[in-house]
Amino acid sequence: MQEFTFQNPVRIHFGHDKLALLGKELSQFGKRVLLTYGGGSIKRIGLYDRVVAAVKDAGMELFELSGIEPNPRISSVREGARLCKEHKIDVLLAVGGGSTIDCTKWIAASACVEHDAWDFFDYDKRSPVEKALPIVSVLTLSATGSEMDSGGVISNPETNDKRGRLSPLLFPKVSFLDPTLTYTVSPYQTACGSADIFSHLMEVYFTTDQSMFLIDTFIEGMMRTVIRYAPIAMREPENYEARANLMWASSWAINGLVGCDKPQAWSCHPMEHELSAVYDITHGHGLAILSPRWLEYCMSGECAGAIINKIAQFGINVFGIEPTMPQKEIAIRAIDALAHFLFDTLGLQRTLPEVGIVDETHFDSMAYKSVLPFKGKLPGFRPLTKEDVIEIYRMCMK
Ligand code: NZQ
Ligand code: ZN
Repeated sequence: MQEFTFQNPVRIHFGHDKLALLGKELSQFGKRVLLTYGGGSIKRIGLYDRVVAAVKDAGMELFELSGIEPNPRISSVREGARLCKEHKIDVLLAVGGGSTIDCTKWIAASACVEHDAWDFFDYDKRSPVEKALPIVSVLTLSATGSEMDSGGVISNPETNDKRGRLSPLLFPKVSFLDPTLTYTVSPYQTACGSADIFSHLMEVYFTTDQSMFLIDTFIEGMMRTVIRYAPIAMREPENYEARANLMWASSWAINGLVGCDKPQAWSCHPMEHELSAVYDITHGHGLAILSPRWLEYCMSGECAGAIINKIAQFGINVFGIEPTMPQKEIAIRAIDALAHFLFDTLGLQRTLPEVGIVDETHFDSMAYKSVLPFKGKLPGFRPLTKEDVIEIYRMCMK
């Protein structure tokens, strides 16, 4: 296991009544607030009015950026940065899911520079993040963990790119997690969000590097939490216990805790970001389609022994598979159990054609882009070249 430094600076207010603290938290950063949100769900659930009242009651001046897209676009980042500069914004208030929070993070950074916002993501320029406006978030969808991490993923439809980047300056200062705000999340988005949380856990769990027993146990516990509560939240949208467990799992799956003991080497996320870059599919759904195929593909490669053992550990500790069978048999059953959870229990469609990706037209370029930032090879559980990635996309066609 590797040595590490762990720090997560996000102050969390968790629970139904905590939003009462919003005005107080915002006002410590100044007077002028830019409220950012998506396509209108916050208005439909009555949250918009509550947030506006909190800002006004705190004696602050409110500006707005609405219409942030799922798979948020660089154009929204640019518009947000423009508004920040024009109105001399002191603090950003992101109210929504991961897309709104991600976009707001990059608005916060872009507001402090003169160059174009995409320069942060351009591999040749890679402009440094040296300053960012403070961000407060109110989460309305349990999925990405953006409320408690330092990353944000932005799409550029002009170039068919979707790129993520981290910076310690982009952690929200404060995040409000009220599970009741997720009661209106549709069963489909609940399924996708849960698949995303599960994937964040798999990305750090499936490693051939030595892991801490403690951390594997945290991860397995969070995976079991998602398996237990996602179907309940889909069936009973107003089940507080289910929504609360998913919300807290979303934050802890990716806030640095469970990834700190080994090198971070993600596989499904780079492959999925290319699918949503080109086809604008929902992130969690793309991950669900990829994940079982990825594990199956990993089993056939180099180091297959270590890989099979880890998948078997997953099968025994997460899905309760009988441990007395041969390791390979357990691993195969574990992948079946994962697929059953994603496609039968959560009801997500299982192939790319079912989400509108009907041919291989873009497989070559998507695979190329997925490995590009990693010098041509995703360094994860099983290192994957461009050709491997194409093969995994192909496995997802049927
Ligand atoms: O836009 P509105 O009207 O708000 O509707 C949204 C959107 O249509 C809706 N929604 C959100 N809260 C709701 C609600 N509907 C009813 N009731 C509520 N309470 O749900 C839809 C999806 O929202 P979105 O924010 O796009 O979903 P999610 O939270 O899954 O975010 C996905 C984005 O985050 C990125 C993904 O790539 C994707 O672009 N990720 C960010 C990460 C990070 N920052 O660390 C890590 C992830 O791996 C991921 O890549
Ligand atoms: Zn994700």
